[in-house]
Amino acid sequence: MRILGIESSCDETAAAVVEDGRKIISNIVRTQISTHELYGGVVPEIASRAHLEAISSVTRLALEPAGGIENIDAVAVTNAPGLIGALLVGVGFAKGLAFSSKKPLVPVHHIRGHVASAYLSHSDLKPPFIALIVSGGHSHLVLVSDYTSYRILGGTRDDAAGESFDKAARVLGLGYPGGPKMDALAKSGNSDAIHFPRVHFADAPFDFSFSGVKTSIINYAHNAEQTGRELNKPDVAASFSKAICEILTEKAILAVNTVDLPQKKLVVAGGVAANSMLRKMISDAAEKNGVSLYIPDISLCGDNGAMIASQGFFEYVSGKRAESDLNAFATESIEL
Ligand code: KG4
Ligand code: ZN
Repeated sequence: MRILGIESSCDETAAAVVEDGRKIISNIVRTQISTHELYGGVVPEIASRAHLEAISSVTRLALEPAGGIENIDAVAVTNAPGLIGALLVGVGFAKGLAFSSKKPLVPVHHIRGHVASAYLSHSDLKPPFIALIVSGGHSHLVLVSDYTSYRILGGTRDDAAGESFDKAARVLGLGYPGGPKMDALAKSGNSDAIHFPRVHFADAPFDFSFSGVKTSIINYAHNAEQTGRELNKPDVAASFSKAICEILTEKAILAVNTVDLPQKKLVVAGGVAANSMLRKMISDAAEKNGVSLYIPDISLCGDNGAMIASQGFFEYVSGKRAESDLNAFATESIEL
């Protein structure tokens, strides 16, 4: 079964065709980075307009290797969560396409899509497992008990991990998008140079908080400026990254060791899963703890249509269909 996946929740217009949830036939991503770079972050209205301009050609390109919409069994589209104006473009387009081609339409939760990106890179991966999902707007630890059943174990109480990388990058004057730039700079720095705080909650071991570490880096940079001390940016980037990656690793491993699972399996997904320090730290910890680790290829960590097509397949198989009044939502729990 071939599913066309359409994704427009943030700053990438993406479409892909995936077979049986696992095999990528096509995967086209048109990023808006150069458009938003000018403003230092995503401007929602500009993002919506850029999606509107790109979505037809991106979808046409994705359909080409599949031989056109006639060879597609269903259209899957991200309808939540994300920037509402951006989501509405994808949902409106997918509805029109499904209607005109008489194909079923399947709504997909964006974060479920991130989890599914691991199925694309690891053909043997099956639930149940623990998923650490770390993106620009979300940081969650989730028990994935089946392809469409989720239970949130914990999440961030303030900023998401990706958001804090982006803010730290802005403090260091690295520009947007900050995560990959922090990653690159951290490689030449000393991660033990500065101690940034790690937050723990005694009553909620799987919850995160990244606002303290964000404030800490802002204060550190201001202090350096006021005292005329030159910032060692690679050291700051490396030390900041270590604080974030350590917390994520520690809690993910704790979750997989605590929750009763037939096999200790951990998935790490979302834009921040591309981070080289996190990949290394979490794979070392997984090995030490006898945990099987599944991280998508770096090319599938950021937003893409293939992950939506993959999850769309599993949603379709479970019987999920969009009604004719399908809408988009800026927020929606992964559990629903
Ligand atoms: O999943 P994603 O593409 O979009 C959302 O659903 O939010 O995640 C984007 C986030 C951004 O905050 C970006 O800075 C971060 O992922 N990111 C990274 C890296 N690549 C992307 N953060 C740290 N290191 C990276 N290599
Ligand atoms: Zn995303």
